[in-house]
Amino acid sequence: MPFVGVGLTLLILTGSSFFVLGAYYQHNDFLHKLHRLIQEDPYAFYIRDKLYDTLQLFNPRYLEQLDGSSSRMSEIMKYGFPGLDDIRVYSDFILSYDRRNRVAHWVYEHLHASCLKPNGSRVRRQEEQYQPDMNVPSNFRSDLTDYKHSGYDRGHLAAAGNHKSHQTHCNETFFLTNIAPQVGKGFNHDAWNNLEIYVRELTERYGSVYVCTGPIYKPKRQLRGVRDLENTQTMVEKWCVEYEVIGANTVAVPTHFFKVITVESKLPGGSPYMEAYLMPNAPISSNTNIRDFLADIRDIEHIAGLQFFNGLRRSFFFGTNYPTSSGIYRNFE
Ligand SMILES: *[C@@H]1O[C@H](CO)[C@@H](O)[C@H](O)[C@H]1NC(C)=O
Ligand SMILES: *[C@@H]1O[C@H](CO)[C@@H](O)[C@H](O)[C@H]1NC(C)=O
Repeated sequence: MPFVGVGLTLLILTGSSFFVLGAYYQHNDFLHKLHRLIQEDPYAFYIRDKLYDTLQLFNPRYLEQLDGSSSRMSEIMKYGFPGLDDIRVYSDFILSYDRRNRVAHWVYEHLHASCLKPNGSRVRRQEEQYQPDMNVPSNFRSDLTDYKHSGYDRGHLAAAGNHKSHQTHCNETFFLTNIAPQVGKGFNHDAWNNLEIYVRELTERYGSVYVCTGPIYKPKRQLRGVRDLENTQTMVEKWCVEYEVIGANTVAVPTHFFKVITVESKLPGGSPYMEAYLMPNAPISSNTNIRDFLADIRDIEHIAGLQFFNGLRRSFFFGTNYPTSSGIYRNFE
């Protein structure tokens, strides 16, 4: 029975994700409930299409095909959905897809040591595994041709190396929904790769790690010409968001990438530890320590429009483990 533990999940999730998961678990009387909900809360009326979509996505038959992924999904999303836009469920990670930018908003993974090594036969990663996800409508889909000659790598959000226990899990990380344009040398091959290795080290050491990865389009101060009625131009500093788009499908090149990492304590009843990283999508000098990129999770939420842990007071989960400085990590066991 895959639904054991749902009580805990529902307790932890709040607001709309509470309802989405609730809807999924109570498929049969969903419409009845929705009707009642609309009477009680007009907001449900405005998001009813999303709720129907979500219900389709969580169709039990679809979940059966994915073999046990229903319980896996509630496991991966234990700390809540950072956002609810176009949720896509894969067998070992879950993402929210940004149709405008053709890159995910976020990708959530739950890692434990057994994810990192093959179970039985060797799991291979191959060039030809990169492929568009045909479940995305074609006018919102990125394609292999977008990345070709773009000068950018096809960078993984959920790293392939985190999903080595099954060939299917590894293959799915190569869907372009989990891929974003990344600077190769100095970023994807180097600093970003080091961050991914660090996450795997945490997993080996602590056993249970949740990681949410996504792009950022960060505003910066720029000089802009402003013309007045006499057509004289003056230069004024303004906040602007600027990013490149590549290929016929105009796939956005994020200015930065983030990872929000939650490490569960090995001690019974111990609070989880959380930290966040924000790295520019640019060559980063090889002697830079990844801890230089520690970021305040509230800044990431603000820029990305996401909310981690569904707005529950972080101290509820994390106690004093919520880092305001990198020093706290030293005290975590
Ligand atoms: C590994 O494979 C065996 C047999 O195929 C299976 O019973 C077991 O659950 C698998 N373990 C993991 C962690 O997937
Ligand atoms: C994984 O991808 C490779 C290359 O596309 C393919 O040959 C193989 O059948 C896939 N395996 C699974 C289990 O999906």
